[in-house]
Amino acid sequence: MLNSSIKRYLRHGMLPQLAVFEAVARLSSFTKAADELHLAQPTVSAQIKKLADNLQIPLFEQIGKRIYLTPAGEKLYEGCQLLFTALTNIEESLSDLRGLEYGRLRLAVSTTGKYFVPRLLAEFVKLHPAIEVSLQIHNRNTLMDRLSRNEDDLYIFSNPPNEFEIVTQPILPNPMVVFAREDHPLAHEKKIAFAQLKNEKFIMREPGSGTRMVAYEAFDHHGVEPQVQMELSTNEAIKQAILAGLGISILSQYTLGLDTFEPRLSILNVQGFPIERLWQFVYPVGKQTSSVSRAFMDFVRKEAPTLIEDHVGKIKG
Ligand code: PGA
Repeated sequence: MLNSSIKRYLRHGMLPQLAVFEAVARLSSFTKAADELHLAQPTVSAQIKKLADNLQIPLFEQIGKRIYLTPAGEKLYEGCQLLFTALTNIEESLSDLRGLEYGRLRLAVSTTGKYFVPRLLAEFVKLHPAIEVSLQIHNRNTLMDRLSRNEDDLYIFSNPPNEFEIVTQPILPNPMVVFAREDHPLAHEKKIAFAQLKNEKFIMREPGSGTRMVAYEAFDHHGVEPQVQMELSTNEAIKQAILAGLGISILSQYTLGLDTFEPRLSILNVQGFPIERLWQFVYPVGKQTSSVSRAFMDFVRKEAPTLIEDHVGKIKG
């Protein structure tokens, strides 16, 4: 029997208001919450105002340009986390009972995953057309934030985090290579010593990227300082910058594409390359994986080699 004192929480729209509140509280910003939730900022402010009116207590205070949770806001934030965890658990067990007919798969992958994951998803959905699929593509740091909040069913990382207790399952090799424009003076050389790269302008991924981490590890390993010409936040932008003659970069070989390769891009024959990384499924230890997640992992393990690896094998070296 529901306690009558929680009547105000049963009002229409309360759950969406709490979702908005949770995002504002977590990000300490109305603007960032609006971006994350794909809402206009006035909508976010209006939702927070309605929520505070419903609960009859202020939830945030503004000091200078920053907003802070009031003591009531802090209590509500703690409660929201418990509530959303409970709802996620309910959804996960229901989704398991629904089986593969009406399940849902929320997948989050790091940026190079966009070159191969949609193809696997498309084939999987052909087999299970009623499954609702969502795909989030982010850099490694953002994926780690999402993982820590248990926002998705399954993650695909190339460099899984060490900071969390996670389960990993290998999917495919992810060779990291040095890309240059085809008319680069080193393009036809063999066995280039890594030290030679110190004279090259280098295009680096943004902080938080796993690709950047691998590139810096390689430079550190050889005791060479990269001459970073610019930092760009997508592999595609880096590819265009290389083609524009702005420099070279270390990226996943998948950046070349699976079917149509960019002929003006060369993979330099640098000693110690490719650096072998591995695409891996990742989920937190203790997570109750849904039947849809398990079916997708089984499908990928079986089909990825033919659907993807054959294409990568055709890439010129
Ligand atoms: P990135 O990721 O998209 O952050 O470069 C690769 C990874 O480390 O998973």
